[in-house]
Amino acid sequence: MATNRTFTMIKPDAVESGYIGGILKMINDAGFRIVAMKYTKLSAEIAGKFYEVHKDRPFYGELVQYMSSGPIVAVILEKENAMSDFRILIGATDPTKADEGTIRKIYAKSIAANAVHGSDSDENAEIEGAFFFSQLERF
Ligand code: CMP
Repeated sequence: MATNRTFTMIKPDAVESGYIGGILKMINDAGFRIVAMKYTKLSAEIAGKFYEVHKDRPFYGELVQYMSSGPIVAVILEKENAMSDFRILIGATDPTKADEGTIRKIYAKSIAANAVHGSDSDENAEIEGAFFFSQLERF
């Protein structure tokens, strides 16, 4: 059954470029409520753990290096059909393939520096949210 929460990170490229406000505005305008939010910087070890599911992919090393290269914003979001609606809002992983008007089409620089992460299942949304936030930190 679909849950009403998902998890996102605003990635180092978007933070560095000053896009936090613009991206959060698009998220709010699309009807998502922020349940928890943290501005932080990942060590390579923590980024490696977060993306462990991709550890056998050829881009894993680049992904871990990139995700630990600067601050990120971790956010839990709430909305009906949160996970699937959020993936529509952010667009395809590769920004050259993302639809017009999506967050990645507007803000992403490349497939690696693609502005935002979005959980790809309800189960992963729960796991990823819990990776960054304790129960007490969520409203
Ligand atoms: P994200 O939604 O954070 O989940 C995994 C990330 O791996 C993905 O976004 C991309 O940033 C990154 N990724 C996926 N495919 C590639 C690729 N071919 N080259 C580099 N990075 C990739």
